[in-house]
Amino acid sequence: MVSKKTHLHKAKSILAINGGKKLVTIKKPHFVWPPKATKEEKYHLAKQRDDDISIKGRSGPIKELEDEFLKYLDGKRKFAITYNSGTSALLAAYFAIGIEEGDEIIAPALTYHAAISSVYFLKANPILVDIDPKTFCIDSKKIEQAVTKRTKAITVVHQWGHPADMDAILKIARRHNLKIIEDCSHAHGSKYKGKKVGLFGDIAVFSLQANKILFAGEGGILVVNSSELHDRATLLGHYRDRSNEEIKDKFLQQFWVTGYGLKLRMSPYNAVTALHALKKLDQRIKERKKCLLYLSNKLSKFLELTPPYIAPYANMGAWYGYRVLYDPKKFHNIPIDKYVSALAAEGVEVKLSDTPSFSTLPLFSIKEDRMYKNRKDKKTYSVGQFPAAEYIGLNAFKFPTFTDWFESKEIIDQYFKTFKKIHENYNELLEK
Ligand SMILES: Cc1ncc(COP(=O)(O)O)c(C=O)c1O
Repeated sequence: MVSKKTHLHKAKSILAINGGKKLVTIKKPHFVWPPKATKEEKYHLAKQRDDDISIKGRSGPIKELEDEFLKYLDGKRKFAITYNSGTSALLAAYFAIGIEEGDEIIAPALTYHAAISSVYFLKANPILVDIDPKTFCIDSKKIEQAVTKRTKAITVVHQWGHPADMDAILKIARRHNLKIIEDCSHAHGSKYKGKKVGLFGDIAVFSLQANKILFAGEGGILVVNSSELHDRATLLGHYRDRSNEEIKDKFLQQFWVTGYGLKLRMSPYNAVTALHALKKLDQRIKERKKCLLYLSNKLSKFLELTPPYIAPYANMGAWYGYRVLYDPKKFHNIPIDKYVSALAAEGVEVKLSDTPSFSTLPLFSIKEDRMYKNRKDKKTYSVGQFPAAEYIGLNAFKFPTFTDWFESKEIIDQYFKTFKKIHENYNELLEK
């Protein structure tokens, strides 16, 4: 049976999963990320080895990266602070806004854990809210019912690069006097109504880990306008030269020698790599957009598949780790794992999505807290609470995030033929 959405001719052939010939002939890997270093980047990395491999103040490539990143954000933020990871930058953000024991922070029930997990470290509680099944971001319609007297902030993740519904979220934050932390780790360059993400909240954090379109290898960057928040975020993970030079608050300045106990600064090598990646960021975003719109257009021909949605307010879809939703009810009840195995057997680089709802993860579901032995008020979640997050967690598969049109077009065309082959020969996947 060919769905109404396809106008494709039927062709009988044996699926590779049943011993037929593989359809994808292009050799793997089909997608390599991060891209290899250029000669220029290698030169700068080698030079950094002799210049300085432990930058203590705000200088060298660390300063350069922070300054260039502020320019990338259209000069609309005063301060940028680098860290050794996005996770560290997020911890600094929560610490900066004063999160402490018993506080509540509203956050999406499906994303990467580090967007919110560090609040447990501060003995606070994430208050999870289901996601919007189209944008994959926190469902703004469900936020207000989660607000209590203890709520201090809303964490917004622009999930897989699709911007969240910022107007609605900002309104709620203003009404209840809540801070907004924007986690832009998937969304470098994404725009909401023409304005870059990272420019909406009180603090924004971008991971620069290797999979990201802007990558340092390991690293994160926090941006903020408030001098007070800047000083607290600095003091959590930086000490000595940087704290001495940068902290303006007289009281906090006294702690410059030690900071508040953690050392979370970025290595200069990572800053050099990120500087090179930043130069190419806009071009890569453009190419990625071309590849993935082409791919989405092809996949939308199959009724059982839903490629990433793009809201009218957004310039990008959820393209980081490109997830496609699969509906078995629209494909003869063939389970997703069987469908994905059939694609993989044909040579498609595809995997089941590895981002589950938080209600399925021990950190968010086990009450007994051995992190802090005396803590009784840890909030936990169970399966059944977040239908959209749980559905997306179980019914999506992921593809390479193609970013080079020249290399990718032919691969995408072969993938399309594979989907068509499976679509037409579905009877080979039915339980006998
Ligand atoms: C949404 C989100 N937040 C935070 C992080 C943590 O960043 P890092 O891996 O740099 O610590 C990631 C990493 O993938 C992420 O996807």
